[in-house]
Amino acid sequence: MTDDGHVPWWRDAVVYQIYPRSFLDTDGDGVGDLRGIERRLDHLVWLGVDAVWISPFYRSPMADFGYDVSDYCDVDPSFGTLGDADRVIAAAHQRGIRVLVDWVPNHTSDQHPWFRESRASRSSPKRDWYHWRDGRDGGPPNNWRAAFGGRAWTFDDASDQWYLHLFLPQQPDLNWSNPEVVAAMHDVLRFWLDRGVDGFRIDVVHCIGKDPAFPDQPAELGEVDRVGIQNEAVTHELIRGFRRLVDAYPGERTTVGEVNLGDLHSIASFYGHGDELHMVFNFLPLHAPWTKAAWCDIVERVEQELPPGAWPTWALSNHDVRRIRTRLGDEDAARAAAVLLLTQRGTPFVYQGDELGLEDAAVSDEHRVDPGGRDGCRAPLPWKPGARHGWPTANPWLPWPPDADARSAASERQEGGSMMHLYRDLLAVRRASPALRRGALQLRDAPDDVLAYERVWGDDRRLVLVNFGERAVDLGLDPSWRLDVASGPQRVAGVLPAHGAAVLRGAT
Ligand code: GLC
Repeated sequence: MTDDGHVPWWRDAVVYQIYPRSFLDTDGDGVGDLRGIERRLDHLVWLGVDAVWISPFYRSPMADFGYDVSDYCDVDPSFGTLGDADRVIAAAHQRGIRVLVDWVPNHTSDQHPWFRESRASRSSPKRDWYHWRDGRDGGPPNNWRAAFGGRAWTFDDASDQWYLHLFLPQQPDLNWSNPEVVAAMHDVLRFWLDRGVDGFRIDVVHCIGKDPAFPDQPAELGEVDRVGIQNEAVTHELIRGFRRLVDAYPGERTTVGEVNLGDLHSIASFYGHGDELHMVFNFLPLHAPWTKAAWCDIVERVEQELPPGAWPTWALSNHDVRRIRTRLGDEDAARAAAVLLLTQRGTPFVYQGDELGLEDAAVSDEHRVDPGGRDGCRAPLPWKPGARHGWPTANPWLPWPPDADARSAASERQEGGSMMHLYRDLLAVRRASPALRRGALQLRDAPDDVLAYERVWGDDRRLVLVNFGERAVDLGLDPSWRLDVASGPQRVAGVLPAHGAAVLRGAT
């Protein structure tokens, strides 16, 4: 909140992540596209989300399915055209939905003209746009490991040097200590801001600063990949640089950064003093076991460890991890997790298909395409029952998720108690409740396996109860608490079934 009490839109928002290859195809190539997003925006209106984050749709050879960008300022033909991007932005805005696009600043594709030029010779004017080094004792310059396995350096025969890539060899790391790189990447931000986007999800932003000495990583860390460790002070200065650029645009444009460092303390530092990222992903729930102790700890730590004024974020799934429904292996628990996600203090991010309760697809060896083994959670969204599920082809780029007929958006819309209706109900309650959107969060004592917290804003009081246990619990609550939403067929405010969750409203 600013001093005059104004709350920027992104603090009040629920963001829906679109993985465009798997949202909806319209041209029959089996890969989702921008027109598919435009066509299904009304699903998002029906759900009640406020904003979308669209994973990369730029020109790309697709070695990492769009996270290897060969032109930041154009659309890959498999997704459509720049005109289609403009239409999605305009159509979303017409419906009151904001649009965040994915900015990938740490690396480009090896097919980006910048890298081709850089690679061409040691004297190329773009040589210093990437990290080139001589080898050491006939091997790479240091012992860093890349994210998808193997070393983080690739040798270039022609110019007799090694280049750095924290991900695939097809994803060379940009050299952000070069002011020309900074200027070029700032221009990319301007390009999309000028087209009207409301902000950026920023890919592995903690990695962009590098120590030019490239010291070895301590041997005791073993083979752990560099992405989970890379953390240089200079990165904060680089972030402040583009934060100023984004803030200079009207309309409260925003940033949410992916900081893949395990501990909350490091993650928290990327908020700066309100001058770095507007939001940073909090990935703790992606790896938490389904226990009261684990969730209590996460909620408490977010409250305690984020600096004052830093606005938290919450996510249960994304395109890089197994879906929450698959991780929990239980429908009731997945429904309770939706209650947890949408009643926290902070901006929730809903991964496409979690609102349908989708499980990961079982992907056989011959269908596997992702170098990081993440195909299952990227299965195409089923929009309708039937062989093609609302897509123009029955055989999209990845297999359908399990139970695709019953889990299709059309089927769930007709079924009152479906996961999709639960998400919609939770979003409606959140939207209508200042306490859930903005209020402080207080953990409350609760018996057995029940996690309880209260959210309060002025007269508005909500109590959230989540039963992680296998047995029903009667909390014997004061009858003035009214049931707002329950994760399952619960009718009495204080009586929670096994793996049940509920949002209650206090008497005013
Ligand atoms: C991020 C993306 C992931 C991608 C990686 C490299 O972690 O979420 O999908 O593979 O960065 O860009």
